[in-house]
Amino acid sequence: MTPQRRDELTREAQATLRANDRGGYTVPTAGLYPFQWDWDAAVTALGWITFDEPRAWEEFRWLLKGQWTDGPQDGFIAHIVFHERSESYFPGPEEWGTPKTDPATSSISQPPLHATMLRWMWQRARDKALAAERLREIVPAIARHHAWWYRTRDPQATGLVMTIHPWETGRDNAPSWDEALARVPRATRPYRRRDLDHVDARQRPTQDFYDRVVYLMDFNRAVNFDPVAIAREGPFRVIDAAIVFILHRATTDLLALADELSIAIDAEPLRAAHARTAAAWPSLWSRAQGLFANLDLVSGALIDQPVNGGFLAWYAGVEAPAQANTLAAWLEEAPYGVPSTRVGAKTFDAQRYWRGPVWQHMNLLIETGLRECGETALAERVRASSLALFERSGFHEYYDPLTGAGLGGTTFSWTAASWLWLQG
Ligand code: GLC
Repeated sequence: MTPQRRDELTREAQATLRANDRGGYTVPTAGLYPFQWDWDAAVTALGWITFDEPRAWEEFRWLLKGQWTDGPQDGFIAHIVFHERSESYFPGPEEWGTPKTDPATSSISQPPLHATMLRWMWQRARDKALAAERLREIVPAIARHHAWWYRTRDPQATGLVMTIHPWETGRDNAPSWDEALARVPRATRPYRRRDLDHVDARQRPTQDFYDRVVYLMDFNRAVNFDPVAIAREGPFRVIDAAIVFILHRATTDLLALADELSIAIDAEPLRAAHARTAAAWPSLWSRAQGLFANLDLVSGALIDQPVNGGFLAWYAGVEAPAQANTLAAWLEEAPYGVPSTRVGAKTFDAQRYWRGPVWQHMNLLIETGLRECGETALAERVRASSLALFERSGFHEYYDPLTGAGLGGTTFSWTAASWLWLQG
């Protein structure tokens, strides 16, 4: 890439974040996603820290306005925080019907990247005084969020937290959820999707998928958001390896940050949960795929779908030499990697969301993990793929792994932020 193209992309990426800034939080992209999303916010803050440090910390302060602070869900951070009204998205706050208002939120969470992103931001921040001041406020709240995950999503202390909605995994329509979701009844009440007002239906989840995820949303409300009922009777309960790895890595970073900055948190239960997870993840290994896979808690079966979540093992610090061979094979098959579903799999669809397309923030996490575990050659290949996509197509929501064409939403915040962070 020429230095001119690089500068141009950096200018565009900064302009994208500025344009999507709503005065303290960043929308993923205008229209399609008009609120603040949980894991998007964490990645987006990485972009802000490269050129506007005070603004980067604000992203977390705004996200935490949506944190639930009492009752059995204490510590919960929602996947969407509805700071303002908007008619361009379904399902809005009244659909979720949660007791939390001002701001209202959804009733499910998302992959807990926060502590890791915060630690990276701390390491990169120039204004250490401001960073320390913000972290003193933010870290205890994130510690309560980790306690929420371990307490409500792993009530039997197995070491593997469960996930109760495909949207909670952040990888909404990944083929891993097909079978588990097929057992969930379809919602019968009327509702109107808004996503198809913005994006071609071939690049979005199907109607059948929407009917069932709406049912799951309504289920949470019907049991009054009681985490015990959800964990015991929820019609969709899976172990998502990606969430297990992300939470594990984040707990490592949370404990390290609290230690380094002498921030008081309730660390002992977190250390115990962390140790349990490290003992439990071998059960997620899929010999068929040569990859860490997901588990269906309702049927008890390993979900043998070749999806990219398992490649976050390195990010969690798991040595996975057999998986390195698998990733190398995947990268051979896709001119632009890492596809969200393996090219050639029966469920692969080059354009449909999490069933094939490449997502840049996933590449960033996978690459970082590989590098930290000494898999430098593979890390370089993933980076080269990411850079080729940025160069060719700019800041889309996701990309076709076969052609490199940009798909989904445009001027996308976490994609722009991933570019800024990669530039160092
Ligand atoms: C989609 C993605 C999810 C993301 C959200 C906002 O729902 O699947 O991961 O957080 O959009 O960008």
